[in-house]
Amino acid sequence: MSEVNFNITATGKVERYQQFLEQVKPCIEGERYEVSLLANVSAALKEVFGFFWVGFYLVKDNQLILGPFQGSMACSIIRFGKGVCGTAWKENKTQVVPDVDLFPGHIACSSLSRSEIVVPLSKDGEIKAVLDIDSDKLATFDDIDRVYLEQLASLITKTIYE
Ligand code: SME
Repeated sequence: MSEVNFNITATGKVERYQQFLEQVKPCIEGERYEVSLLANVSAALKEVFGFFWVGFYLVKDNQLILGPFQGSMACSIIRFGKGVCGTAWKENKTQVVPDVDLFPGHIACSSLSRSEIVVPLSKDGEIKAVLDIDSDKLATFDDIDRVYLEQLASLITKTIYE
């Protein structure tokens, strides 16, 4: 992924995501290694949106293992169906969690995390990884985040998993 100096001028959430995707797209498409790409996407999301924690868990040996991320140390292994990440994997469906305390089985890697979104990266229905973003505020994520982060996930999947 080549260096990119983000120029995000929009103030609205939709427009910010649109500008972000436009600017990050050529960098993603030029990448062929999973770890490098996911590391740079984590860094880009952190830089542009200032998320509390952003990173990837990868499916390896029938469990989710911690992959590239930005933020504080996190749990390294999550089992199928466990927590928000394991649920996104099991259901192959984005999980938008406005209050992590109300999500049954939520795994708290940081006591400061209050809301969360987890987006699966799947190829032909098979989950390869999940994108996990945590906020230290309640109800940070909604359908707008889901739509654009799913677009990002699809772009990543096409580039490295197909
Ligand atoms: N909260 C996640 C665990 C990963 S951390 O948020 C980084 C979960 O419940 O799966």
